[in-house]
Amino acid sequence: MMNDSVQHQCDLLIVGSGAAGLSLALKIADNCQVIVLSKSLLSEGSTRYAQGGIAAVFDEGDSINEHVKDTLIAGDGLCDEKVAHFTAAQAKPCMEWLIQHGMPFDQEKNEDGKLHYHLTREGGHSHRRILHAADATGEAVQLTLTEAVKRHPNIHLFERYNALDLIKSKTRQNHIIGAYVWNRSKETVEVISSRFCALATGGASKVYQYTSNPDVSSGDGIAMAWRAGCRVANMEFNQFHPTCLYHPEARNFLISEALRGEGAHLVDPDGNRFMHKFDERGELASRDIVARAIDFEMKRLGADCMYLDISHKPADFIVKHFPTIYRKCRTLGIDITRQPIPVVPAAHYSCGGIVTDLDGKTDIDNLYAIGEVAYTGLHGANRMASNSLLECIVFAHASAEHISQRLSEPTTEEPIKHWDESMVIDSDEAVIIQHNWHELRLFMWDYVGIVRTDKRLQRALRRIELLKQEIEEYYSAFRVSNNQLELRNLVTVAELIVKCAMQRKESRGLHYNLDYPEQLDNPEPTILSPN
Ligand code: FAD
Ligand code: SIN
Repeated sequence: MMNDSVQHQCDLLIVGSGAAGLSLALKIADNCQVIVLSKSLLSEGSTRYAQGGIAAVFDEGDSINEHVKDTLIAGDGLCDEKVAHFTAAQAKPCMEWLIQHGMPFDQEKNEDGKLHYHLTREGGHSHRRILHAADATGEAVQLTLTEAVKRHPNIHLFERYNALDLIKSKTRQNHIIGAYVWNRSKETVEVISSRFCALATGGASKVYQYTSNPDVSSGDGIAMAWRAGCRVANMEFNQFHPTCLYHPEARNFLISEALRGEGAHLVDPDGNRFMHKFDERGELASRDIVARAIDFEMKRLGADCMYLDISHKPADFIVKHFPTIYRKCRTLGIDITRQPIPVVPAAHYSCGGIVTDLDGKTDIDNLYAIGEVAYTGLHGANRMASNSLLECIVFAHASAEHISQRLSEPTTEEPIKHWDESMVIDSDEAVIIQHNWHELRLFMWDYVGIVRTDKRLQRALRRIELLKQEIEEYYSAFRVSNNQLELRNLVTVAELIVKCAMQRKESRGLHYNLDYPEQLDNPEPTILSPN
């Protein structure tokens, strides 16, 4: 039996309600009707957990060229310089836009009593350049944007709705006409028809066993775009954040890089600093170098973790700048004003993603991708800290402008086929999904993690092929569930990561392969095409 799906209609469908999705919604909503989907609660996504801040040139001694230069150095030869320049130049106006909407960046008085924004420092940045709201910048961004979109009459918020797949036009080449979405509360598949669509689904770090990311980061947008025919790029560059809290009761809790920016030391279990053995910038080396150094020292010493120590700074400075981290550690019995913090690296950020241009447009005519889901060329082989929230907002604005200009283009209505549930039944074997979840995330961690080899990559690919078969069989036989949808997307993302990693015959940035420790002379991005 074909069910009569509920149908919704809008001008722009935005999948994702983090910094990227909500900025786009807010920027464009005066011009058209917008639906924003969020597969969990509206506020749940990586944005909400961001700590350090947002990079933008606000200091007189700093410059856009310096911001670009630092971004290119961190990106290890693979950034698109034009994109880095565009992003750094847009940073200040975009931050001013956010401030106009109420963003409470920390301010302090300088010597002549005038208020100015406090800028912190993070790895890879040659200047103090990070605007922040204490150590909970993301929460303030998410709250600021959420309150603003809730007030706008043209923005319709669909909470607990998963996008399943994009619907391609039968009459127009390279065009999408909407998406199938799963209403999680009613457990039914519905249809949203839309003239334009933007994927703002965040990253895919949940493909790894240990991650700083929330559960929603399952690469759905990348997998959907791939199935619809878009190219993806640089998927091998998954960033591992060097310092996630290592404690049995702490799940996914990050210890911000801003601690190192403000002078924290990385030490081994005996209290010895070790970063200067790996890079002359010490603790302020870029993330790939710091994560590898920690991984190396842990393996060398057979230690479960390393330690981050800021206890030599005054206690009131620590509590004022890092209240969230202080409180969280305190609840676990660690007083960071007196004790070092146990830390380990964990999967943190997807530098690769759906290929887009400077307008955020993908290979599909009316499909955009913004935020962590996209590959714009900004991050190259390694994202510099605090350039991500910046990219979300800069490219949300660019897409809003581009889509606004296209709203007057003529449209044609096209009927959409209902979702066919006639052949599926309720699953009585959810254990398969559960098992495959664990298996996938564990072998990705073990074989496709911080240090890779050809053999490990081949092993991972063989397992992915098996899992893919099982998951597709399951997908076509049983009714939709969140775990099943995410697993199907994650296995696609895992395959894309491994295939990109296999193509790169060198070690660069976040991709380190023991079989190819050197760098090639003329590096190119790794681009995969589904066709
Ligand atoms: P997200 O904020 O992750 O939002 C994704 C949205 O998509 C969610 O609403 C989710 O529900 C929705 N979604 C996903 N799939 C579907 C689907 N199938 N259907 C419907 N909805 C879907 N970056 C910085 O620049 N500075 C920092 O200080 C910083 N700190 C960080 C700290 C942590 C702990 C983490 C995890 C990341 C940090 N980052 C930081 C990275 C940055 O936070 C993210 O890259 C950024 O927030 C991504 O925003 P986004 O809008 O692209 O996606
Ligand atoms: C952090 O605060 O360390 C995270 C910054 C980032 O990921 O950009």
